[in-house]
Amino acid sequence: MGLDTVELFAGVGGFRLGLEEAGHEVIWSNQWEPSIQAQHASDCYVKHFGADDHTNIDINDVPTEDVPDHELLVGGFPCQDYSVAQTGAEGIEGEKGVLWWEIERITRAKRPKYLLLENVNRLLRSPTDQRGRDFAVVLHCLHDLGYNVEWRMLNAADYGYPTKRRRVFIFAARRDTDWGGWLDEEADQPHYFTQRGFFPREFPVDSGQQQFPVARQPDTELLGDPKQTSEEFEFDFEHAGSMVDGGIWTRDVDPIDIEGETLGDVLQTGGVDDEFFLDEEDMDRWEYMKGAKEEDRVTDDGYEYTFSEGAIPFPDNLDGPSRTLLTSEGTTGPGREKHVVEDPETGDLRILTPIEAERLMGFPDGWTDTGMSRTWRYTCMGNALVVGLVEQMGRTLTQSPDDLDSDSGLVFGSTSE
Ligand SMILES: C[S@@+](CC[C@H](N)C(=O)[O-])C[C@H]1O[C@@H](n2cnc3c(N)ncnc32)[C@H](O)[C@@H]1O
Repeated sequence: MGLDTVELFAGVGGFRLGLEEAGHEVIWSNQWEPSIQAQHASDCYVKHFGADDHTNIDINDVPTEDVPDHELLVGGFPCQDYSVAQTGAEGIEGEKGVLWWEIERITRAKRPKYLLLENVNRLLRSPTDQRGRDFAVVLHCLHDLGYNVEWRMLNAADYGYPTKRRRVFIFAARRDTDWGGWLDEEADQPHYFTQRGFFPREFPVDSGQQQFPVARQPDTELLGDPKQTSEEFEFDFEHAGSMVDGGIWTRDVDPIDIEGETLGDVLQTGGVDDEFFLDEEDMDRWEYMKGAKEEDRVTDDGYEYTFSEGAIPFPDNLDGPSRTLLTSEGTTGPGREKHVVEDPETGDLRILTPIEAERLMGFPDGWTDTGMSRTWRYTCMGNALVVGLVEQMGRTLTQSPDDLDSDSGLVFGSTSE
């Protein structure tokens, strides 16, 4: 059964596209671009999904009561400093403008059954001088609000998508829900992160590994309250893990590689406009920027150092998944990180087209062709998530947690293998 969903930080609607494909319904959304006045992502969202129940204001200014009751809260939010300044009768006080606190505020008031959140994988280890603190604060807030949590770092390319994109996905289940109860019962069991958890069902990993002794102790625990966790907690979170009742279990897992689409598969095969092709006079600059270098440099304040970096493929390899798409992809002129491909029709070198950027992220062709500049089309795709991954997670959310493939021998009750 589909879940009534609220989509925060909606961008051009990656979560919505994936979730609707899996049978869920987005009943309210919010998107606001702080960096410029024009609201390209929100306009694109409205063009495709309509203006009803979509809001285009800073989430900090959205009164909690304007957000309707919902079952699933989703959003890709930025990795910022989540340290806690104060706790007490007034609740937790995080720094203003830190968007995690908006998710926390809405969750506190609305208590959706589930949350599905996306962040850069740096979140698991930040900040560098107190590794894991920011993620632990997120976990502690969710714990205090009555949720159990499972997370997984997913690289889209491992699961058949044509681009490498590593993101951490956080699934939180209210403790009185079926998934909340499943986590309570199962998260310390063998095979949780390889087969029985939320993520491994759609994103298989090597199940020969990472067996845990039954009823093992957590790897670590949250401290007394979010403020203490914020001040003292330090821990290396691995790529898969769970938090149940303040206890934390975490392991690295090895994805089972699935052969899938390549960068070559998404290229347009004709009619690409001249503006996308590299200028002959820029070729030296492109080669320099893409190439290996070791050179003496001097900082503005006179400090001398040797700068070195390796070469990156020029042009990009078409036989595998693409490198990660960046928001800066569409700016003019040579750039080290920009993709350069050999055009399948002419054999000449060119940058990616906006349609190819959309295909890499799993959006329909022309999704961002809604009046924004070419540069913004790439920016929106650089910000977006891989739609198919969300569709897969959405499918798992339509199933009961004990609805495991009986062929695997891992049906409910057979956990002590
Ligand atoms: C990582 S992107 C999410 C993209 C989205 N998942 C998609 O598929 O397009 C984060 C989005 O949050 C928006 N945003 C940033 N600050 C915001 C704020 N204060 N209020 C609302 N939205 C904000 C950004 O404009 C950006 O579109």
